[in-house]
Amino acid sequence: MAVLVSCVLNASSLDTFIAAVYEHAITLPNATLTPVSREEALVLMNRNLDLLEVAITSAAKQGAHIIVTPEDAIYGWNFTRETLYPYLEDIPDPQVNWIPCNDPNRFGHAPVQERLSCLAKSNSIYVVANIGDKKPCNTSDSECPHDGRYQYNTDVVFDSQGQLVARYHKQNLFMGEEQFNKPKEPEVVTFNTSFGRFGIFTCFDILFHDPAVALVKDFLVDTILFPTAWMNVLPHLSAIEFHSAWAMGMGVNFLASNIHYPSKKMTGSGIYAPGSPRVFHYDMKTEEGKLLLSQLDSHPPQPTAVNWTSYASSIDAVTMGNQEFKGIIFFDEFTFVKLTEVTGNYTVCQKDLCCHLSYEMSEKRSDEVYVLGAFDGLHTVEGHYYLQICTLLKCKTTDLNTCGDSVETASTRFEMFSLSGTFRTQYVFPEVLLSEIQLAPGEFQHYFPAFCLINVVFNPMYLPLQANTAYSFKGKANTRLKPLLPFPWI
Ligand SMILES: *[C@@H]1O[C@H](CO)[C@@H](O)[C@H](O)[C@H]1NC(C)=O
Ligand SMILES: *[C@@H]1O[C@H](CO)[C@@H](O)[C@H](O)[C@H]1NC(C)=O
Ligand SMILES: *[C@@H]1O[C@H](CO)[C@@H](O)[C@H](O)[C@H]1NC(C)=O
Ligand SMILES: *[C@@H]1O[C@H](CO)[C@@H](O)[C@H](O)[C@H]1NC(C)=O
Ligand SMILES: *[C@@H]1O[C@H](CO)[C@@H](O)[C@H](O)[C@H]1NC(C)=O
Ligand SMILES: *[C@@H]1O[C@H](CO)[C@@H](O)[C@H](O)[C@H]1NC(C)=O
Repeated sequence: MAVLVSCVLNASSLDTFIAAVYEHAITLPNATLTPVSREEALVLMNRNLDLLEVAITSAAKQGAHIIVTPEDAIYGWNFTRETLYPYLEDIPDPQVNWIPCNDPNRFGHAPVQERLSCLAKSNSIYVVANIGDKKPCNTSDSECPHDGRYQYNTDVVFDSQGQLVARYHKQNLFMGEEQFNKPKEPEVVTFNTSFGRFGIFTCFDILFHDPAVALVKDFLVDTILFPTAWMNVLPHLSAIEFHSAWAMGMGVNFLASNIHYPSKKMTGSGIYAPGSPRVFHYDMKTEEGKLLLSQLDSHPPQPTAVNWTSYASSIDAVTMGNQEFKGIIFFDEFTFVKLTEVTGNYTVCQKDLCCHLSYEMSEKRSDEVYVLGAFDGLHTVEGHYYLQICTLLKCKTTDLNTCGDSVETASTRFEMFSLSGTFRTQYVFPEVLLSEIQLAPGEFQHYFPAFCLINVVFNPMYLPLQANTAYSFKGKANTRLKPLLPFPWI
């Protein structure tokens, strides 16, 4: 009997599904600081929707169950509250069970939601998009803005019948998003499908505990939907590098859809499974958008949790007599030691954090310098969050003053490395970046022990001692790594 029941249940659910993300080459408005009419705003939004339509239709034809499109993809950025207003629609709570394609005027004039809903319905695909919501308020609410409305940076999801099934108001607004309000409390937005449970958040949210961690730890989602307008910052915050690490560190599928706008360093989209990136796109050379598709497990297996403190504490500190020095990575002052030999073991500490590295290069090149670095402190630029980072990185030149500067290529091949740190968090994100801004290849999952470089990111704003983490590595694209040390991750 039990067997029969489970067969019936399984009949309607899928073990795998096909995900799509679209990197959209945006058409920006000509003017964002002077007001335009609603009609002009719609002309611009429809130009972007025309391109999203091509991507959605193509994804559906190739069998995709769901497609994610980027943050700000329909009207861009750089607005004031007033100049954004013509682009906004009232987006109702999904509990109203609304299919805008069938009933477009139920909640006022909503042509953008209508078009997205019809694209989802006519192509039988879940469509994830980012648009602007407006909600009137008045003096009965002491936080009501002077212009009498809240404006929200909002993700919406329409299911394959065109019904609005999710609405998420971005919590952690980035610098320059003064046109938007943040919700009073972080919104934890999930929905169930026959191919797993989904959660959603937006861009800068990834650096903060809420709602990102709650979706995974408390609401047990399988897949995160991540519309973003991400400006790449090397060495640790390039989109593909950080987003793939988040999938691995949190043990979820992660669908990241970025704007394509190379002059603002916006590129880097991908479909990431917990074990490895499935497909990614990074393109600073062309002006073209890009559709990516990949199959994913509906319920990806959970990785085993690592106790970093107990692992790293078991390693004896080794200094090899090298001089420590200071250097800056993205406004944070790291403590570094230089790797002087072709193989070696090093430890570098800062405050409570000690980072251990064992490595073996195939040759010690005289034209490239690598360092091991540690940072333990509060990051205060573009946002406040607590970080613990261990990193192995290539300096820009052989001058040690350039360690931490942005680097895009490397020629040194590492035969092996193992990095660990005494992190105070379970949220450790392994970033590995290869020459020419590539991610480690598919077999990386089996060889992970030999790769680990670590950044740890704490966010003391909501829950002290809850954290995000990351790792980074620069080696040659054809680096062949072999596992040497046992590692608690697998
Ligand atoms: C911006 O202005 C140019 C020149 O007037 C025009 O050709 C173009 O269509 C405008 N673009 C948008 C998005 O309105
Ligand atoms: C915003 O607009 C200003 C003035 O038009 C321009 O100088 C700036 O580069 C724009 N910023 C972005 C991010 O596009
Ligand atoms: C405005 O305030 C009144 C009470 O003073 C309230 O009934 C009404 O719902 C409020 N409107 C909005 C849009 O919040
Ligand atoms: C999804 O399904 C689970 C049970 O399988 C349930 O606990 C949860 O409330 C559902 N979530 C939504 C948003 O319906
Ligand atoms: C990790 O290990 C340390 C030292 O062995 C122990 O004190 C700590 O409680 C462990 N942490 C977790 C989350 O298990
Ligand atoms: C580094 O440490 C490992 C493990 O403790 C040891 O086998 C190896 O010989 C050490 N390498 C060097 C160059 O000291």
